[in-house]
Amino acid sequence: MPHVVTLIPGDGIGPEVTAAVVRIFKVAGVPIEWEPHAAGVVAFKRHGQSLPVELLDSVKRNKVALKGPVTTPIAEGFTSVNVALRKALDLYANLRPVRNLAGVTSRFENVNLIIVRENTEDLYAGLEHEIVPGVVESLKIITEKASTRIAKFAFGYARAFGRTRVTAIHKANIMKLSDGLFLESTRKTSREHTDIAYDERIVDAACMQLVMNPEKFDVLLLPNLYGDIVSDLCAGLVGGLGVVPGANLGTDAAVFEAVHGSAPDIANKNLANPTALLLSGLMLLDHIGERQRAERIRTALHRVLADGRVRTKDLGGGATTTEFTEAVCREVEQ
Ligand code: NAI
Repeated sequence: MPHVVTLIPGDGIGPEVTAAVVRIFKVAGVPIEWEPHAAGVVAFKRHGQSLPVELLDSVKRNKVALKGPVTTPIAEGFTSVNVALRKALDLYANLRPVRNLAGVTSRFENVNLIIVRENTEDLYAGLEHEIVPGVVESLKIITEKASTRIAKFAFGYARAFGRTRVTAIHKANIMKLSDGLFLESTRKTSREHTDIAYDERIVDAACMQLVMNPEKFDVLLLPNLYGDIVSDLCAGLVGGLGVVPGANLGTDAAVFEAVHGSAPDIANKNLANPTALLLSGLMLLDHIGERQRAERIRTALHRVLADGRVRTKDLGGGATTTEFTEAVCREVEQ
């Protein structure tokens, strides 16, 4: 029986990179039946809703989705589909492994860190309103429940995957109550996991240390907004947004997507690097128990990247999305 997986191509480079993953999975013989659903501006034009009920029902039914990026209009228009999707499905943990890949040149070697980002609250929830013209209020809501839940996830992940340290990142020197509560929750959780080392960094200092000695970090545990920003910083440490995958995990569903956005500057030009979404897709395969096929594709991808002859533009090469995809397919078939 094939696995039924919801497919959200998204917009911008989304349809190009999702098509690449679908093609590679097909060549590798992965038994998946895709259930495609539009989101964002495409869905809005088609159904008058940016996050259609049918899409949510599909993910609830299938419990797993592969998602391309969805554009969020800046300072106007509909609210973020990504935020709404995570909230609607209670995908509380955003997991982003950041690793050097052989053949992908970057400023650092031996980066191998895991970002665990709280995914449901904080300023990133976008709860804001105008009090009077010229004055707006944005609500940073932090709860003990969500902070403890994500801390438990981070420590549980560390334990399950042989990681040795969790670093909580905060700004509790200034936001004494909100980030203070986040820290109180992570400290409490750390005391229940004494086999894993625990430390704390203020977010600004953490950014500086990350760009100087990223190899010293192991599992980073962050509230939502810092997690969003630090994720892109960390992607820059290992070659850019084209190579860093991610997963949004809840107790009832999991949505796998790259860290990057819809990249309007290169959309529809066959220039996007599908590596980040492919790696997200491989996390999905591990999640649904297709580990052998995931490993086969991972090996093929690593070979193509390490060989270096077929490289997309973001990695300094001249290959199109299609050429890179076909190179991975050829390796899969070896
Ligand atoms: P972005 O991640 O789309 O692009 C930043 C830069 O990285 C661009 O120069 C882009 O060309 C490059 N880039 C990104 N992915 C790439 C890939 N796979 N291959 C090669 N180059 C790549 O960030 P930006 O421009 O800030 O956001 C664009 C839109 O995406 C916004 O509407 C934003 O809200 C949305 N977005 C959506 C996300 C999601 O759906 N999960 C996540 C982040 C942003």
